[in-house]
Amino acid sequence: MRLLRQERDELHRQVLAGKPEAIARMRAQGKRTARERLALLLDADSFTEIEIFRRHQARGIKIDESRPHTDGVIVGSGTIDGRRVFVYAQDFTINGGSLGVAHAAKIHKVMDLALATGAPIIALNDSGGARIQEGVLSMDGYGGIFRRQVEASGIIPQISVVLGPCAGGAAYSPALADFVFMVRDTSNMFLTGPDVVAAVTGERVTHAELGGADVHGTRSGVAAFVHDDEESCFEDVRYLLSLLPSNNLEMPPSAPARGATEDDRPGLADMVPAEPNKPYDMRAVLEEIVDDGDYLEVHEQWAANVLCALGRIDGEVVGVVGNQPLVLAGVLDAAASQKAARFVRFCDAFAIPLVTLVDVPGFLPGTEQEYAGVIRHGAKLLYAYCEASVPRVQVILRKAYGGAYIVMDSRSIGTDMSLAWPTNEIAVMGAAGAVDILFRKELAASADPERLGAEMRAEYGDQLTHPYFAAERGLVDDVIDPAKTRSAIARALAMLRTKRKQAPRRKHGNIPL
Ligand code: HXC
Repeated sequence: MRLLRQERDELHRQVLAGKPEAIARMRAQGKRTARERLALLLDADSFTEIEIFRRHQARGIKIDESRPHTDGVIVGSGTIDGRRVFVYAQDFTINGGSLGVAHAAKIHKVMDLALATGAPIIALNDSGGARIQEGVLSMDGYGGIFRRQVEASGIIPQISVVLGPCAGGAAYSPALADFVFMVRDTSNMFLTGPDVVAAVTGERVTHAELGGADVHGTRSGVAAFVHDDEESCFEDVRYLLSLLPSNNLEMPPSAPARGATEDDRPGLADMVPAEPNKPYDMRAVLEEIVDDGDYLEVHEQWAANVLCALGRIDGEVVGVVGNQPLVLAGVLDAAASQKAARFVRFCDAFAIPLVTLVDVPGFLPGTEQEYAGVIRHGAKLLYAYCEASVPRVQVILRKAYGGAYIVMDSRSIGTDMSLAWPTNEIAVMGAAGAVDILFRKELAASADPERLGAEMRAEYGDQLTHPYFAAERGLVDDVIDPAKTRSAIARALAMLRTKRKQAPRRKHGNIPL
C-alpha cells in the first residue's frame, strides 16, 4: 500500500511540476503558467481539479513519442468571492496547448458540469489550436465545445480570457462566449495567421497587427475588455462575475441598499450643456447615477459612440446603455448598434434591468454606413430591446431624434418607464433640417430667408419639440429635475423589480443577425 501511495504521490508531483524548460520559456515571454493563472483567478485553496491523470491515447506521427500529463489543459472548479465557477486553463507548455481528443474531452466534462450545476464557465485560452497529429478528431473536439457553448448560451455566463495564441477555428470558442478578455502583447486571435495571409493576399502583417488585443478591443469588437497584464485582467474577471447571476434562474447578486431613492445629485444639471450639439462625457452622468460611481464598461474602446456598462443602483445590478456625445456626437452607427444590441441581449438573458440614457442626434448618414449595413445592424438593437422582458427605464437627457429615438428604448418599443429632463427635445429631426424640408419653396422665394428661417425654426420648436410635447401625449412618464435622476431611476426599478413578462410560445424569433 505504501508503494502504491508513493507512486501516486510521485505521479501527482509530476503532474503539478509540468515541464520546467517550457515553463521558463513561457515566463520569458511575460506569461504565467496555467496553474499560476488559476491561483490568481480563484479564491485561495478553492480549486478542485478534475481528470487530473488523464493523458492522450493517440497513435501516429510524433504523437506516441510522449504522453504528457494533463494533455495541455487543466480543468476543474473553484470559487470566486465564495461563488462556484467552472474553469479550464490551456497550458501552452504542453504541446503548445493544442487540442486533441483527451484535451477536448476534459473541456467537455467541465462544460457539462457547469451547465448541470448552473455555474459560470471561464476559459483561459492559450493554444496553438487543433492538434495537427490527431487530425479530424481534434476538429470534432472543437465542434463539441461550440455545441455546448450554444446550448449553455443564456443559461450560464460564459467568459473567455485569451492569454496567448488563439488561432483558426479555435477563435470561435471565445467568439461564442458572452465576454472576451485579452491582454496586450501576449494574446492574439485570428482565423488565418500572418504566413497564410501573406501567401494568399500578399499582405504582410505581424501577429499583433492582425489579431492583437488592441485590434480586437478597438476595431473588430471581438474583445470586450483589454488589459495591460494578467493580474488586472483577472481582477476585472472577478469584478464582472460579482455583477452576474450564476445562471438564468437566479437574480444578479444584490449589495446593501444605498438610499438611492432619496439621493439628489445637484451637479447633474450642469454636466449636460444646454446647446444640443455641445459634447460632454456621458460617463460623468453615469458616475452620478450608479452606486459609488462604480461601473464596468464593456467594449470601452470599440464603438465608443455608445456606452455600455454594468453597475449597481441602490445595491441592485443594472445594465446601462447610453449615447456618448463625446464620440461622433453620440450618433448610432452599425458598430454601435451591434455593441448595444449584444449587451441588451446579455442583460435580458440574465435578469439585469436596463437603464437607457438618451442623447442622440440620429443614425450616422452616408454611403459608408449604408454599405456597412447600418439598417441590418440597427435592426439588431431594435429587436433586442423589443424582446427584452427585464425592467426597462429610459432617461432622455437632451435630444432624441428620428429612428434613433425609437431604437433607444422608447415607449413604443416597450420601455416601462420613460423619464425626461426639462431640456428634452424629441422629434423626427432637429429644427434646422425640418424647416429646410418643409419650407424650401417659401425660403427660396423670401426676400429675407434668414429671418423667415429663424421664425419657422422657433415655431417648429414651440409646436413640436417643446419639453412637454411627448409627456402630454403619454410617451414620457415624467419630466424630472435632473438632480433627481438617480432617485427617479431607483424608484422606477424598485417599482418594476417583480416584473414578469411571458412571451407566446415559438421555436425562436428571427433576429436580423
Ligand atoms: C500540435 C502544436 C500546435 C498544433 C503548436 N504546437 N501548435 N502541436 N498542433 N496546432 C506545438 C509545436 O510543435 C511546439 O512543439 C510547441 O507547440 C510550441 O510551439 P512553437 O511553434 O514552438 O511556439 P511559438 O513559436 O510560440 O508559436 C506559437 C504558434 C505556432 C504561433 C501558436 O505554434 C503555430 O503557428 N501553431 C499552429 C497554429 C495553427 O495553425 N493551428 C491550427 C489552427 S486551425 P515542441 O514539441 O517543439 O515544443 C484550427 C482548426 C480548429 O485550430 C477547427 C475548429 C473548428
